[in-house]
Amino acid sequence: MKKSSILGLAVALLAIARPALGCVGDCNGDGVVSINELIVGVNIALGTAPVSACAAFDDDSNGEVRVNELLAAVNNGTVGCATAATPTPTVTPVPTGAGAETRCTVPEGDGVNFDPAQQFCDLLSSYRFFQGNGATQEPNAGVLPYDLNTPLFSDYASKHRFVWLPPGTSATYSAHDSFNFPVGTVLIKTFAYPADYRDPSLGERLIETRLLVRRSTGWDPMTYVWNDEQTEARRRVIGQSVPVTWIQLDGSERSITYHVPNTNQCKECHEEHNSVLGPLGPKARNLNKDYPYADGSVNQLARWTSVGYLVNAPSPDAAPRAAVFDDPSSGSVEARARTYLDVNCGHCHNPTGLARTSGLYLNIDEMDPARFGVCKSPVAAGHGSGDLKVDIYPGRPDLSILSYRMQSTMPGVAMPELGRQTAHDEALAVINQWIAELALPPCE
Ligand code: HEC
Ligand code: HEC
Repeated sequence: MKKSSILGLAVALLAIARPALGCVGDCNGDGVVSINELIVGVNIALGTAPVSACAAFDDDSNGEVRVNELLAAVNNGTVGCATAATPTPTVTPVPTGAGAETRCTVPEGDGVNFDPAQQFCDLLSSYRFFQGNGATQEPNAGVLPYDLNTPLFSDYASKHRFVWLPPGTSATYSAHDSFNFPVGTVLIKTFAYPADYRDPSLGERLIETRLLVRRSTGWDPMTYVWNDEQTEARRRVIGQSVPVTWIQLDGSERSITYHVPNTNQCKECHEEHNSVLGPLGPKARNLNKDYPYADGSVNQLARWTSVGYLVNAPSPDAAPRAAVFDDPSSGSVEARARTYLDVNCGHCHNPTGLARTSGLYLNIDEMDPARFGVCKSPVAAGHGSGDLKVDIYPGRPDLSILSYRMQSTMPGVAMPELGRQTAHDEALAVINQWIAELALPPCE
């Protein structure tokens, strides 16, 4: 935003100011925010002045000044800052040194603290999903870790997934779709990079912990970004870039700038059907596998049922089970390729998903080869298709747009269009083998 437009915005907002909670922008501590102080804030937001010029603008202490902080300052400028007489919610400070919780109440206790009627907390630790500050990802009582047969690829990030349900409630089984979860459910997914994939004892760096919470109004997404000290994760709405470096299994060093999505981007993937946001992973086929729990290895569907988190599930043998894309003992090349496409593409590429107008359906139950791409021309020709004619050319991965777009890292070409900056070579090998072996006639 240009300086003049931010200032214009600030002045325009003076007219509609509402009472403020804190004293954002009160650089000299006199209880009001003057126009001069506002201008300092605008300069910090623009990067033309350091945050140290007036730390009072950096309300959430994240080292930068954002529009919401400017707006808070504008409010303070007209109505003055909150005084001791202003009622404040009872909040127990979280002992991390990272700053106190200001958005939600944290009652005393050591169990999970989640209330679906409250707005998202500032600090992940306020929920007590994990033991201690959560740095070890050791779940608290009732927070059940889980894993998927074939996960979403996210630039080689490792992931920790958990589910928590309010005591006494259960999800209802479905053979095809995500389970039907009760109000109050929290699904948790942490993204991390191990220092060295060959040696887990070297530890990992936590990047972000994403939440999907089930409110009475529907599912609500939020992410929490971990600080460099790895002592706390803080609510983050506008996304963030985080440089990361790690050693791959083959010993090579990789570096990328990891992009924490903004909360509008969550829905681009999570609106699997008819623009309704919801969970994607917890489906019978994805969960039907053993998990190494602290007390031993047990099938996840069986464990979810035995702890009361799932009702109406058949025995695991009678439930669908997805292949593990890189484990040949788990299924044929075709089963593994189709599973990978189901998990990594099917939430957009299905008849009611975001990419429905492409006519390319990569969900696992699509049986018509023309609809999963065989000899299908793309709806939009152009550079996105690399001058190739069809999505899948049987026997010829080199002539298949699907392969080309999975390999590419160029914006506008790369698929998925979000959450991937590196090619997933191990998956491409499976997809290309499947296309090479497809026993279907050549395209006209
Ligand atoms: C590139 C697509 C994509 C984007 C963008 C995305 N997700 Fe997801 N997410 C997925 C897929 C696919 C899964 C299931 C597979 C897995 O967990 O590996 C998933 C799983 C999750 C889970 C575990 C529960 C579940 O639905 O399986 C949570 C929690 C979650 N995402 C939260 C978020 C939040 C919050 C955002 C935005 C800040 C977000 N996601 C953005 C694709 C995406
Ligand atoms: C976040 C949603 C999203 C995800 C996830 C996604 N796509 Fe797409 N895809 C789209 C959209 C939107 C289009 C149409 C616009 C375009 O061609 O870029 C598209 C178009 C395509 C096309 C051209 C199809 C045609 O016939 O016109 C191919 C091929 C493709 N995607 C492959 C994939 C593959 C393979 C994956 C998974 C590895 C994937 N996509 C994941 C949204 C997505």
